[in-house]
Amino acid sequence: MTGSGISIRQANPADLTVLSELIAASYATLDDGKYDSDQFRAALPFMSKANPVLVESGTYYLAQLDGRAAGCGGWSVPAPWTDVVEDGVGHIRHFATHPDFKRRGVASALLAHCLDEARGQGVKLMKCQSSLSGTPFYEAFGFRQIGRVMTSVAGNPLPAIEMELAL
Ligand SMILES: CC(C)(COP(=O)(O)OP(=O)(O)OC[C@H]1O[C@@H](n2cnc3c(N)ncnc32)[C@H](O)[C@@H]1OP(=O)(O)O)[C@@H](O)C(=O)NCCC(=O)NCCS
Repeated sequence: MTGSGISIRQANPADLTVLSELIAASYATLDDGKYDSDQFRAALPFMSKANPVLVESGTYYLAQLDGRAAGCGGWSVPAPWTDVVEDGVGHIRHFATHPDFKRRGVASALLAHCLDEARGQGVKLMKCQSSLSGTPFYEAFGFRQIGRVMTSVAGNPLPAIEMELAL
């Protein structure tokens, strides 16, 4: 547990419902006018669910604060939605903080944990496809913006910001 009372543990399949509720609550706040509303509405149900493969991967984490599930996030070696693996490269995956716990350091605790772990496993470059509103959070950790990309959320196009951090 950190000094702020945040505890982090590996997620597991028994957490899928709690994680999906958390992610749905978080992502419902994501459309702050930066997205095309129709695109966002089409993609939202698909990105609001926990990804079972990620949850079972061993590098996806649940943060608890005040006895509640407050945030989640992880990292992977394969790039999101593909099996593409690049030597020394990792990818930040599916970060979300419940609206009740925003700006209390929850995602920071998770990201610090992920970066430490990835560094220990030989990752030299961490990549991230940030939501359009998530970039200030990653920039606070030194990630730099590479550019805008179009992702596909279960076949629904949605813009994201490609970011990276040398570890
Ligand atoms: C992005 C997100 C995960 C950040 O979670 P959080 O737990 O509130 O983040 P933290 O409290 O650890 O913030 C750490 C720092 O990041 C920056 N930051 C975080 N949210 C910010 C915001 N909305 N605007 C500007 N800076 C922000 C600040 O520098 C902050 O430090 P400070 O609070 O001392 O100023 C959260 O806002 C969220 O769930 N957003 C919706 C989903 C999303 O965009 N996920 C990322 C997908 S790639």
